[in-house]
Amino acid sequence: MSRRFPLPDRPRLWGVALSHYQVEGGDHCDWTDWEAGRRTRGAPCGDAVSSWEQYETDALLAKAAGANAFRFSVSWSRVEPRQGEWSDDVLGRYRRLVDHLAAIGLEPVVTLFHYTHPSWFHRSTPWTSSASIDRFARFTRRVVEALGGSVRVYVPLNEPLVFLLAGYLDGQIPPGVSDPASFRLAFGNMLSAHAASSAVIRELNPAAAVGVAHNMMAFAPDRWWNPFDRLIAAAAHRCYNQSIVEAYAEGRWNFVLPPLLRMKGRNDDLPASIDFFGVNYYSRLHFRSPGKERVVGDFHYRDRSGRGLTDNGWEVVPEKLGAMLMEASQSGFPLVVTENGIADATDTMRVAFLEAHAREIAVVEARGVPIHGYFHWSLLDNYEWLDGYGPRFGLYEVDRTTMQRTARPSVETFRELGRKFLSVP
Ligand code: FCB
Repeated sequence: MSRRFPLPDRPRLWGVALSHYQVEGGDHCDWTDWEAGRRTRGAPCGDAVSSWEQYETDALLAKAAGANAFRFSVSWSRVEPRQGEWSDDVLGRYRRLVDHLAAIGLEPVVTLFHYTHPSWFHRSTPWTSSASIDRFARFTRRVVEALGGSVRVYVPLNEPLVFLLAGYLDGQIPPGVSDPASFRLAFGNMLSAHAASSAVIRELNPAAAVGVAHNMMAFAPDRWWNPFDRLIAAAAHRCYNQSIVEAYAEGRWNFVLPPLLRMKGRNDDLPASIDFFGVNYYSRLHFRSPGKERVVGDFHYRDRSGRGLTDNGWEVVPEKLGAMLMEASQSGFPLVVTENGIADATDTMRVAFLEAHAREIAVVEARGVPIHGYFHWSLLDNYEWLDGYGPRFGLYEVDRTTMQRTARPSVETFRELGRKFLSVP
């Protein structure tokens, strides 16, 4: 068991998760360039939901919702707008947020990479170049120096595999590369960047706990009787979910994505680079062969469990949160649910969603696997990447004309569940 996590004086975290680009507004980065090239389906991010100006009041909303922790990310493009030029103003802004969180009793959980990069990054030191490792370590150093000892929990990378698949294999998000050889290089470099970032955090702040937030999806055959559907679903589970758990647990990976890619690799520094393993869980995909769509086959959501699809068409399958946590527990690291949430503008499904996922956490704990934290995605309606402002994930609804935040009824449920979760020692 890690010496740094769970936190001795706050063994359980109940929080909300946000990411800089999705809420801050006015951040120019590779995603802004991507939107300018009209490569997203929804509206551009623009002012997002103005959290850059409203972070302190947003933190108070999280507090009012019963949270004791606040997961947010730092914008690399704001901190290092030109390569090697650092903005003290921006670092100071994040420091003020952290101080405010401490003052109101919320544990800051700081993510360093949540999909976006400074515009110069892909031209100068893309993830395919080993120079990216040092660039990320330098960025980490500046942030950790600026935030000081008040931050005790860091997540260097959010969903590295989702980013790598979409950015380097499928070409759907910046940098828009679709090339297995580049994916392979970027994969190794990004995991090395994680280890380097973690080493910097511990050098500067030895008590800080470090984790990774890994997106885990359930996969099922579309037709249970079809051997190919079953084979592909099992292969997807193996490569999408398990290979990252193994990489962090054992320092090696065997990533097989038929017929495109087969790669083995190792990084002996990875297992010691984390104190906890974070699971981001949302839904389940069904596979139907033969694959005609893109590179990883025909995958789709369907309402097999009969609970209804969410506003963005995702299936609600709470019991698979348990299955994913059990899978992640194989790593031996303490576990945290670093993201889980639902796009539900009318708030008709969110209460049942929250209750069912909290029940699932209790089931996992009854099986002897403690869950040290739960972070709901998200506090506010926000910018949802390729889908713009369509999906509404917020416990608080945001009117983007006035930037007014209004509590959805499910805030009550979140508060009540949090009270129960935090009352268990
Ligand atoms: C996760 C991302 C997060 C948000 C949610 C809905 O995979 O980490 O930024 O988009 O999905």
